[in-house]
Amino acid sequence: MTPSISYHFSTVARLTARGFAARGLTSRLAFSPANSARRGFYQTPRKRLFGAANKPSTSLSGMEQFKIRLIQTEKEFESIIINAMVKEGWGPGLQDAECFMACDPTAGFVGELNGKPICCATMAKYGDSYAFGGSYVVDKEFRGKEYGKKVYDAAVASVKHYPTIALISGLKGEEINKRNGFRSLFYGAFFIFNIPTTIACFSETSITSPGVKIKRIEEVNKQALFMYDTTVFGFERHGFLSKWLRMTDSHARVAIDSEGSIVGYTVARPTFITGSYKIGPLFADSEAIAEKLLKAVFEELLRLEGPAPVVCIDAPTKKATKLCERLQGKRSLELVYMVMNDLPDACFDKWFGYTTVQLG
Ligand SMILES: CC(C)(COP(=O)(O)OP(=O)(O)OC[C@H]1O[C@@H](n2cnc3c(N)ncnc32)[C@H](O)[C@@H]1OP(=O)(O)O)[C@@H](O)C(=O)NCCC(=O)NCCS
Repeated sequence: MTPSISYHFSTVARLTARGFAARGLTSRLAFSPANSARRGFYQTPRKRLFGAANKPSTSLSGMEQFKIRLIQTEKEFESIIINAMVKEGWGPGLQDAECFMACDPTAGFVGELNGKPICCATMAKYGDSYAFGGSYVVDKEFRGKEYGKKVYDAAVASVKHYPTIALISGLKGEEINKRNGFRSLFYGAFFIFNIPTTIACFSETSITSPGVKIKRIEEVNKQALFMYDTTVFGFERHGFLSKWLRMTDSHARVAIDSEGSIVGYTVARPTFITGSYKIGPLFADSEAIAEKLLKAVFEELLRLEGPAPVVCIDAPTKKATKLCERLQGKRSLELVYMVMNDLPDACFDKWFGYTTVQLG
């Protein structure tokens, strides 16, 4: 059965009302010293994030002013970037703005034409070594006029000194990203699951992963979970995880082996698409453990009141797509993980679901 998708109309309407046309949100404090007080451990001074991209460009007519600046607040992140993703049908999580800002408050870029937001991109920085680009959208009526290129270039230029820059692209963008210096590392896909169909497919995973127990997040040592995430993801992101693991109405599970070590975890969060959840990350030491984690989360989601929700997973690799196909997920969009310069120091073989395609 093909799951149907409808949007959180009230929320979309609220966001659209504030969205790309949210002129009033442009802050005059963009580069004021007061903002530096908000900077956390990871933050790059705002001045260093822009080169030429920060200079307003004026069209031939002299009437139009296009300017790229950083997103300042969580509210602005939601009204501009999350709204753009909702309009594209990407179904971001209901609390993604808060979590993305916790990951890197200097990650969001907005391009404004005469003060009106018309395009955006993100470039999340993990320490000084890894940067991840995403949320690349131009408002429909302004596409094909090189605004996209400008905001993309500004985002990439902000991390040009980084040893590793990565992104996840659709196949349409792969060649373009290659021209811009990225290379393709592995291919995956976006899957949509109907819970009752998938639950009927779960194998007897206790046979293939004996001794592994599935626990709730509150039952495990948080520091140990952070350490597991750092090893598998490749970079420390405790600030982000502290928010991500505590999102309202999310369902997280951790796999523990017979020696008490963490061997996997996953989070399902509600999205802007009504009755839909996104899984991410789905990290596990083996396919059997990934399946066991999914089984626990799917069964819990099925117990919720109302119709069974639809569940989506962005599967990164061939191994992950095989699991999703075995569980009768509907393959809906091809994805490619691309990298510029050095390889990230991550355990990709333990990635069964991206955290998000915007953050890696
Ligand atoms: C992709 C998008 C942001 C491009 O913006 P735009 O303003 O129309 O593009 P521009 O006129 O500035 O052209 C800039 C570049 O974007 C490229 N582009 C088009 N689709 C792209 C994609 N999916 N990924 C990366 N770059 C893309 C163009 O080919 C062009 O590159 P080139 O000059 O080297 O050929 C815009 O079409 C859009 O919002 N699409 C829907 C959202 C989306 O698919 N985002 C990309 C997710 S991978």
